[in-house]
Amino acid sequence: MKIKLSAEASFSAQTDVIAIVVAQKSAKSLPATLDGTVAQALTAVLKDEKFSGNAGKMVTFRPLGMLPSKWCLVVGGGDGSPGSLRRAAGECAYFARKNGAKKMSLVFSDKLSSKNSSEQTRAVTEGLYEGNYQFDKYKPEAKRKAALSQVTISGLSGTPKDVKRAESYASGQIVSRDLVNEPAEAIYPESLAEICEALRSDQMKVEIWDENKCREEGMGGITGVGQGSTRPPRFIHMSWTPKGESKGHIGLVGKGVTFDAGGLSLKPSGGMQTMRCDMGGSAVVVGIMSALDKLQPNVKVEGLIGAAENMLGGYAYKLGDVLKMRNGKTVEIHNTDAEGRLVLADCLSYASELGVDECVDFATLTGAAVVALGERYTALFTDNNRFADGFLKHASAAGEGLWRLPLEAKYKEKLKAEWGELKNVGGREAGSITAALFLSEFVDGPTWAHFDIAGPTFVSGKTDHFRKGGTGAMVRTVLSWIESK
Ligand code: BES
Ligand code: MN
Ligand code: ZN
Repeated sequence: MKIKLSAEASFSAQTDVIAIVVAQKSAKSLPATLDGTVAQALTAVLKDEKFSGNAGKMVTFRPLGMLPSKWCLVVGGGDGSPGSLRRAAGECAYFARKNGAKKMSLVFSDKLSSKNSSEQTRAVTEGLYEGNYQFDKYKPEAKRKAALSQVTISGLSGTPKDVKRAESYASGQIVSRDLVNEPAEAIYPESLAEICEALRSDQMKVEIWDENKCREEGMGGITGVGQGSTRPPRFIHMSWTPKGESKGHIGLVGKGVTFDAGGLSLKPSGGMQTMRCDMGGSAVVVGIMSALDKLQPNVKVEGLIGAAENMLGGYAYKLGDVLKMRNGKTVEIHNTDAEGRLVLADCLSYASELGVDECVDFATLTGAAVVALGERYTALFTDNNRFADGFLKHASAAGEGLWRLPLEAKYKEKLKAEWGELKNVGGREAGSITAALFLSEFVDGPTWAHFDIAGPTFVSGKTDHFRKGGTGAMVRTVLSWIESK
């Protein structure tokens, strides 16, 4: 998609879609450059439709020759905040993709442009990529719709630099969405490792450990979970170094369960249907890592992924097994479907050994997080208030749902084991919290936060301007957090 910024709104150039974004409180104030007769006609319909101008709300027209486009959209820009404009732009791009439109002119009414137009332009660019996304590579050719090839934005005073920066964020998010949407027959530990290897550059080192090496290195969680599959597990370590002086050292850890059948504690068929998304945490890490060469932040970033398929072959780990983890702790298995915390544990220990000062993990970890917060919110856990506030601020600016849940240390007793040091499940109550507490046992040193992305990683139907499937949730939030260092 080629995005051009234009100083003035032109309604004369040939295009497929003309989308006019108007402010909520002045929904009827169409751009002054719009032909008077057309404006009058549009205003009448908007009134008839009780158009509110709320962010993302849309009325579609067939201009029938009154404008040089096949469609005309009037879209609510809400309060003009970056979040509202991201929504509006996203809906326009969604409409365009759905209808096979290739060119779009996106006009913002003068009431919307604000002083921080840079933020607005970035949000609009991100929204365009989000709404225009579709994963249709396995659909028959005839049913695939081409992406937008060109969008002209007018009415905002951002710069091409803003567009470019937003495009780097969007590209990371798309990498993440694609990885989640790909079936488990395409993304399995070895192929995921190859995708990471392809990110090698002057600044990015990549090291892969195969199953034997993982065993030798004491990664008992990764090998335990992975041993029930004919596709062996991998530990992936990407390391990105800035060109200049480094202002910090960050570890990003991702759950890379490329398919979660539940293991011997088998999931029912319905619950298994979308479990290709269970490498969503690793997809966040890969998405972020893939954008670093373009963004050039000032920090050293380690990307660590525990990749395994949770299956039930003859060698599968069993109930009552006691796994010895990287940091020496022993874990008694009470449910093989609580596997994510086991692969993460080894990665968190490894991140601690690397001496990172801050460590963040991403995982589609618990159904309980989906029950608590639904598909619009990631659950955030950390015992550091400053750390939490930073993420909440960046998530809010990025328009992503993030909600902090308590890391209640008193619940640690639910993880007490009979034969080992810890159980891998803490009972039905507070399931997301006990999962987070389990992880905390493997962090030694760095300030740490855990993101349970089980809800937003893979949405079950259209959610705002996101199609069903992978969303790339948290990629943009965390990129902006990294860039703020
Ligand atoms: N991958 C699942 C969690 C999940 C559920 C992700 C729904 C996305 C959507 C995880 O491995 C799991 O199975 N968790 C169990 C833990 C339980 C056995 C303690 C769960 O949530 O039921
Ligand atoms: Mn599971
Ligand atoms: Zn899982």
